[in-house]
Amino acid sequence: MFRTKNVEQSIRDTEEPEYALKKTLSALDLTVFGVGVVIGTGIFVLTGVVAKQTAGPATALAFVVAGVVCGLAALCYAEFASTLPVAGSAYTFSYASLGELPAWIIGWDLVLELALGCAVVAVGWSGYMRSLIGNAGGSLPDYLSGTHDGKFGFDLLAFLLVLILTGVLIAGVKLSSRVTTVIVAIKVTVVLLVIIVGAFFITGSNYKPFIPPSEPTSGGSGLAAPIVQLMFGFTPSNFGVLGIFTAAAVVFFAFIGFDVVATAAEETRNPQRDVPRGILGSLFICTGLYVAVSIVVTGMQKYTELSVDAPLADAFKSVGHPVWAGLISFGAAVGLTSVCMILLLGQTRVFFAMSRDGLLPRTFSQVHPKFGTPYRSTILLGLIVAVVAGFTSIEELAELVNIGTLFAFIVVALGVIILRRTRPDLPRAFRTPLVPYLPIVSVLASLWLMFNLPAETWLRFAIWMVIGCVVYFVYGRSHSRVGKEG
Ligand code: ALA
Repeated sequence: MFRTKNVEQSIRDTEEPEYALKKTLSALDLTVFGVGVVIGTGIFVLTGVVAKQTAGPATALAFVVAGVVCGLAALCYAEFASTLPVAGSAYTFSYASLGELPAWIIGWDLVLELALGCAVVAVGWSGYMRSLIGNAGGSLPDYLSGTHDGKFGFDLLAFLLVLILTGVLIAGVKLSSRVTTVIVAIKVTVVLLVIIVGAFFITGSNYKPFIPPSEPTSGGSGLAAPIVQLMFGFTPSNFGVLGIFTAAAVVFFAFIGFDVVATAAEETRNPQRDVPRGILGSLFICTGLYVAVSIVVTGMQKYTELSVDAPLADAFKSVGHPVWAGLISFGAAVGLTSVCMILLLGQTRVFFAMSRDGLLPRTFSQVHPKFGTPYRSTILLGLIVAVVAGFTSIEELAELVNIGTLFAFIVVALGVIILRRTRPDLPRAFRTPLVPYLPIVSVLASLWLMFNLPAETWLRFAIWMVIGCVVYFVYGRSHSRVGKEG
């Protein structure tokens, strides 16, 4: 159960021609990848939600808190990714350091992060598209517009988006990264537009109070309150200083994806050098943009009046500029496409790595003879994500995605410490500074954000992990390639 897959073996596996992915990506590709996946529903939608409900103008501080937690984790990810340039991200890292069962748990956990994250973003995209269709005078019937206020509707647009992106991914990474580059350019332009144009419409009084006074949550059951407030016997509340942390645990979603850069390590020409650059570069750029956007938006409109559907666009409407608002909606819809695609890509690669190791049926790790992509796992995952995106609503899933990701951060940080002890000899293109202190701080910081998520999110996460353990003991344990060879 705690058998590890040694590092040389991990690298050798990637060289078997039948299971080898093409190595075509550079540091710039990876940074574009990172920015492409990181800027998405988090900044375009959640900024408005948390500003209105939990943090007010102090949402900018929540982005700083979440950014610091991610920065610490990124420094750990970068060491791991530069030591083990093989597909599968935290899954591969933990197989080499912690053992098979922890690796399986992480792989299973990454399914939650990437597949559900992709579904969440697809649903967000569909909302922006419907708003654009509305601008053009059209509309979709309610039963094809997704679930709203507890009333079920199939989300046709989200479903179709995932299916189309699945096709693009099967056709090959190079094609999709080229498409991504154009999309990322549009998205970053729109974000800069919000910051620069929006800055002219800031009203100072909107920032008062910057940290709104704490107020009890209305009618939420105990399970809906952050677990830290329940543990320490606080009355569940929004706003105030605690509200900044509650908000940070939610806007954390906006940073998800920089770790996906590490999952593309196997397809990178010079992973030792380029992966750390790609991860840290994209994280740095995004944190700056988020803080700026949230300061501008909460300055344009009183936080109590912000929209929770399309806050960036609606802030422009509120100052009488519907044309800017339309452009922003368009850019958001385009940008969310790339987020969705890269999350799906990361997920198929984790699945690919798990299958190559025999923990999932090996048929899923055969690559397409012409495209060089793991087409079987891509098709399977694409279909599942499309269905989930069609049938579920955003709110139920985003927090679950966050808890899964924070959990992966913890395992990776512990893995850095362990691998330094067990394999001090390995070449590390990037070394995490101040080991073991920095990884320990990273673990504590991630735990803190997890504690700021609702009790019901913890419950759902526990159920998902129990199912994962059952699958491992019924299938993976007896089919593991490392187990058979060992
Ligand atoms: N970070 C990505 C987003 O904000 C997942 O949508």
